[in-house]
Amino acid sequence: MLRIAQVSDAHLSAARPVFAANFARVAEAVRAARPDLMLATGDLSLDGADSDEDLAHARDAHAAIGVEWRAVPGNHDVGDEAALGGRQPWNAARGARWAGLMGPAAWVHDVPGWRLVGLDTQSLISDEAQWEVIARALRDAGPRRVALVQHKPLAEETLADTAVNYWPVLPAPRARLLALGRPALVLSGHVHMWRDRVADGIAQCWAPSTGFIVGDRWQEPTGAKLLGWVEHVLHADGTHETRLHEVPGLQLHDIGLLPEIYGPMTPLTGG
Ligand SMILES: [Fe+2]
Ligand SMILES: [Fe+2]
Repeated sequence: MLRIAQVSDAHLSAARPVFAANFARVAEAVRAARPDLMLATGDLSLDGADSDEDLAHARDAHAAIGVEWRAVPGNHDVGDEAALGGRQPWNAARGARWAGLMGPAAWVHDVPGWRLVGLDTQSLISDEAQWEVIARALRDAGPRRVALVQHKPLAEETLADTAVNYWPVLPAPRARLLALGRPALVLSGHVHMWRDRVADGIAQCWAPSTGFIVGDRWQEPTGAKLLGWVEHVLHADGTHETRLHEVPGLQLHDIGLLPEIYGPMTPLTGG
């Protein structure tokens, strides 16, 4: 069996250390838990999409926990799909910054009974190269169960969702991904909410952020708005268990009330 600590959305920056105190408490809890492996599911940095310093600082802070770890990029680390029209589109230069400081965005990590496949949900449309890694990983999984490790959730509600927005993997790359193979488990971050459920036959775990939530005025509460980290135990027989760890003393920052970080948020209509 393998014990995994999933941490997500730390949003760290040496220049703007707003979420550093929360991360320090989570880091201490993860260190004390002595997991076999730590997975960081994106947005490690506050603005790695434009800052080498933020991304290097975030990498060093995660590495300092002192356990074996792997990471996938989030939109604040590498930008986001150009199709979404944001101010930091994913491009080759942003992808190269991540690769240079963190290693490949898409990767395979085999453990007894399971194959972990990391991928970059911000460039599934824009970066054809990672599909070679993903396709080979799913095709050659053999009897292993597949756990996808990614920043954005596979879907908000069901795999048939057609919504195109900032939160989930977009419908077209979702369909392409599922056509390659069916994961048993998907570990994601990005929404800054905790939710653990099986939908469409796939266990889909949303890890909360270590640093902040997005208040209900700006984001529908489709999960629990809290902070912490998540423990997964993967057994060699293909079963697994997931457990949330809240950490005492974390400050429940609401990014909607901190416009100096990412600018003002747009309130939900009618909210
Ligand atoms: Fe985030
Ligand atoms: Fe994100």
